Amino acid sequence: SKFESLLDRVAGSDAPDMADILALLNASGAQTQALYRRADDIRRARMGDGILLRAIVEFSSRCSRDCAYCGLRKAHRQLKRYRMNTAEILASVLEAASSGIKTVVLQSGEDDTLDPFWLADVIRAIKSGTQMAVTLSVGEKPQEVYALWRGAGADRYLLKIETTNPSLYRRLHPDMDFDRRLECLRVLRELGYQTGSGSIVGLPGQTAEDLTQDILFFKRCDFDMIGIGPFIAHPDTPLGLEGDGDIQAVLKVLAVTRIVVNNAHMPATTAVGSLEEDHRLAALKSGANVLMPNFTPQPYRQAYEIYPHKRCLTETSGACVPCMETMASAIGRCVNYSRGDSLKIKV
Ligand code: 5AD
Ligand code: FES
Repeated sequence: SKFESLLDRVAGSDAPDMADILALLNASGAQTQALYRRADDIRRARMGDGILLRAIVEFSSRCSRDCAYCGLRKAHRQLKRYRMNTAEILASVLEAASSGIKTVVLQSGEDDTLDPFWLADVIRAIKSGTQMAVTLSVGEKPQEVYALWRGAGADRYLLKIETTNPSLYRRLHPDMDFDRRLECLRVLRELGYQTGSGSIVGLPGQTAEDLTQDILFFKRCDFDMIGIGPFIAHPDTPLGLEGDGDIQAVLKVLAVTRIVVNNAHMPATTAVGSLEEDHRLAALKSGANVLMPNFTPQPYRQAYEIYPHKRCLTETSGACVPCMETMASAIGRCVNYSRGDSLKIKV
């Protein structure tokens, strides 16, 4: 059919046409199912049926920025802030390791008061005590700091672009600079980090053209990992009265990204699991190949409220892994307990 040849054309191109991407994002009815099926076929062919696990430890809710959508924003003065100490972080990482997980993601708000040497010590402690891959997700930092952490043994870094529309980016991030964020992504790659980026779908004012540009950006930058999730309105932010992102739109962006960028790891994000229903299984059937079990201990876990109704908020530390085993079996897949390094050939 015409839609299948459109899928063939986009899947076969190194620089797909903007109009073709837009046409895929506008898929409706039976086309939508064909789109998801194609993404699922490419995911299976390129990375197999094993779902990779990345343990996330949300070690600090302190933040110096004011992202309009985020519950951790500095202006949210009522939020109780925390920073886990080294022993607490190591205990969470060891718990993940004893569940068989081989990647830990250390995430926090973008905290200007974070001591880079302290985090370097934490990284060294993890790398000397375990075989785990360490992924950082702590925002924009000077090149020297990225280099320090890389030298301490950090393997990967996540820094979402959130949106590639510069004027929308500026409206959502009053105290930030789009070009500096691009520069951070460039530096991270140059330092040899396996680098992840990603975007939010359904941001107020975001258009289908914006989402098309996001996908082309992911392709051009050749990221090792791409995280995509819906906008979820947080009542204590300036966007609190806006509607949540539409799950079908998220699944389409995910599927088209998988078709265009066939060799990046893509999680079924916690945000995808945190709309009124949990859509992570749908994401895993539309191109995603990663799940992110939460290993943040209570009471910190409930305090890390990026958006409301976050999945697994009240569960105990180890609960996500058996839950994810069940999710995998429910769709005829399995959990893959390997490190899940980048699929790209590094020279
Ligand atoms: N809705 C959806 N995603 C959000 N994030 C932050 N706030 C929200 C929200 N309200 C995402 C951003 C950030 C990641 C840690 O959480 O993409 O990079
Ligand atoms: Fe966390 Fe289900 S994935 S409890």
